[in-house]
Amino acid sequence: MACEGPVKETALVFYWQPAYLRLMSDKKFFVSRYEKLGWKYRNVNLKQAIRINTMNSKEAEVVKRLQSHGIKLDKIPFLQSGYRVSWSEFSVGATSEYLMGLYSIQEAAAQIPVILFTELTDKTVLDACAAPGGKTVQLADLMQNTGAIIALDTKKQRLTALSNHLERCRVSNTIVYHMDARRSSRLNMKFDKILLDAPCSGNFATDKHWFRKRTINDVKRNAKLQKEILAESAKILKDNGEIVYATCSLEPEENEFNIDWAIKNLNLQIEKIDCYGEKAQTNIFGKQLDSSIENCRRIWPQKTQGFFVCKLIKCECK
Ligand SMILES: C[S@@+](CC[C@H](N)C(=O)[O-])C[C@H]1O[C@@H](n2cnc3c(N)ncnc32)[C@H](O)[C@@H]1O
Repeated sequence: MACEGPVKETALVFYWQPAYLRLMSDKKFFVSRYEKLGWKYRNVNLKQAIRINTMNSKEAEVVKRLQSHGIKLDKIPFLQSGYRVSWSEFSVGATSEYLMGLYSIQEAAAQIPVILFTELTDKTVLDACAAPGGKTVQLADLMQNTGAIIALDTKKQRLTALSNHLERCRVSNTIVYHMDARRSSRLNMKFDKILLDAPCSGNFATDKHWFRKRTINDVKRNAKLQKEILAESAKILKDNGEIVYATCSLEPEENEFNIDWAIKNLNLQIEKIDCYGEKAQTNIFGKQLDSSIENCRRIWPQKTQGFFVCKLIKCECK
């Protein structure tokens, strides 16, 4: 596996160094990997973003109501109902419109995965790693509360946040389970669509202590968990069904390498998508990947946080 190449040795060399040197080294280590992928590290300042819940109100009306409170919004061109908050005197989570579920606070890149599904109305959808529920609400919104969403998460506290979010936004087509997505075949169901917004190592754009906290071992541990969830998801997906796989990690082990493994082992194919972000690379750290990996999208932090997204289809062939 690619993550067991020279990368491991680099991380080990730094292991015995004093902590402060190791922190610098870990940052250098990750930043130099980004450079190898063609991206030069820079700091980013993200603006808050919202998404209008069109199942509860007309988009133009919500925008007008928020503007009447003095909130300045800019439409995000690559999203359906997403706006950047360019100015607000108070928290956008403190309006009556927010409490009525007319909009959600949702980072711009995090609004991309759900819009990649084709036709969601009346479908049976698994949200495999759902809490705190930003994307579950977005799914329900695009489904206009039709069909059914099964939402899973392993963290009970986060499930409370998810349930509150569903209630506030008046979502009525979702059942929430405290369940490990690696055991989701116990549901005895087959799904038309699966959102796998995978637990991941995150990225520095949304966590200023990221470089201090993360090591290559975290990345490897997450990559393994993601593969296990991918494998279980492939089992319970209907033929021709769709998985949208997403992470907010910049590390190839959690993204391109995992998807290369998935299409070689799980009877899945990558479907072309048309969305914000750049084509993923097919040769990373000297490892040649399947050419269809270029149909995945890698989003480097700049206008949004860092993200990776792709759409997988289950072939009928086997
Ligand atoms: C990236 S977050 C999901 C964010 C969510 N989709 C949203 O849009 O609000 C990943 C979630 O996966 C959950 N998780 C971790 N391991 C899991 C597992 N084995 N099965 C299901 N969920 C898991 C975490 O508790 C976390 O809430």
